[in-house]
Amino acid sequence: MIKVSQLAAAVAMVVTAAAVQAGEVEVLHYWTSGGEAKSVAELKKIMQAKGHVWKDFAVAGGGGDNAATVLKSRVVSGNPPAAAQIKGPAIQEWAAEGVLANLDATAKAEKWDSLLPKVVADVMKYKGNYVAAPVNVHRVNWMWANAAVLKKAGVAGMPKTWDEFFAAADKVKAAGLIPVAHGGQNWQDFTTFESVVLGVGGAKFYNDALIKLDAKALDSDTMKKSLETFRKVKSYTDAAAPGRDWNLATAMVMQEKAAFQFMGDWAKGEFLAAGKAPGKDFLCAAAPGTANAYTFNVDSFAMFKLKDSGAQKAQGDLAAAIMGTEFQEVFNLNKGSIPVRLNMSMAKFDDCAKTSSKDFVDTAKTGGLVPSVAHGMAIKPAAEGAIKDAVSQFWNDDKISVADGMKNIAKAAATK
Ligand code: BGC
Repeated sequence: MIKVSQLAAAVAMVVTAAAVQAGEVEVLHYWTSGGEAKSVAELKKIMQAKGHVWKDFAVAGGGGDNAATVLKSRVVSGNPPAAAQIKGPAIQEWAAEGVLANLDATAKAEKWDSLLPKVVADVMKYKGNYVAAPVNVHRVNWMWANAAVLKKAGVAGMPKTWDEFFAAADKVKAAGLIPVAHGGQNWQDFTTFESVVLGVGGAKFYNDALIKLDAKALDSDTMKKSLETFRKVKSYTDAAAPGRDWNLATAMVMQEKAAFQFMGDWAKGEFLAAGKAPGKDFLCAAAPGTANAYTFNVDSFAMFKLKDSGAQKAQGDLAAAIMGTEFQEVFNLNKGSIPVRLNMSMAKFDDCAKTSSKDFVDTAKTGGLVPSVAHGMAIKPAAEGAIKDAVSQFWNDDKISVADGMKNIAKAAATK
């Protein structure tokens, strides 16, 4: 007869074996709005189907500033999550700390080098090794509109230039509605700001001023014009904008309270989750003056070094799932973005996504493809934070002159 102690040992062995097969992945992300939650639920489903336990660690706060703060405290206390939504230069900063897991085994087996645009693969690597898995490509320089509101206000189509935009905004105002739905948080202010800079100055100026942080560009007439245009956009927002979440601003457009919103295409995920039809209920167009340019924002997950072998297996599976065709399609259909994996069929995607996909390829050839500063794709987090604060102060305080606004931004750009 088998003894109790032997039985316990046998059970322990089975449990250990199971743990090697499957593990728990604690995933830190900030996808909490309607469209975002639907999207991340697809990743959870795929991981659960592989037998892993998904421990959701959602930290609300658009743009991810809150999530970044929580992540820091978890890593500093020696208790990192298995995976965290980190992107752009922040990936390099975390990798330099020596806390990220090497994903090369998965990347090699799944042939990531041949499945990713080089501009994306480079951001996912640290010293030549993959340390993050990319999820999607979001376009940031979009303008969204409610078709019924435009009709009511007598606006014939989506404005293509800033002059056309202000003429349309005047008509919306005259119809008693809010021209621009805005959420006053610094990443949202900057989302609008970088689209204005791109529209006023073009991709080369955007690169010089906001990415190279070139002192001459920051002190130029084009920068002056950008700030004047930016301030004018603000005059078409409502008094309750400060502090408002981005998805509540999108809801104002959906509910026919406001006409336009400047926001990346996660806003489309929100319209879709609410059952709205693109091209019919809501319209998408590049922000005025930016049709030939593309500010990209690639979401990605970095994995942290963990000791548990089950957790390591789950991390590898998570990385493979993220780059897999099944996830790339269903996630991006919900999220509003396009697949980051090359050669994916766009058949199931709507016209906004098809435009995004075509423009991503075209602008990569013309030099119009630029990283989004507002979404952490371009410059080091410290300078990014300082510039965002300077831009938001200007946005929030009409008493700051354009000349002083320019000086403050240039000073912030020097933050190391
Ligand atoms: C992220 C998106 C997210 C949005 C709002 C962006 O920075 O890239 O995935 O939906 O912020 O939180």
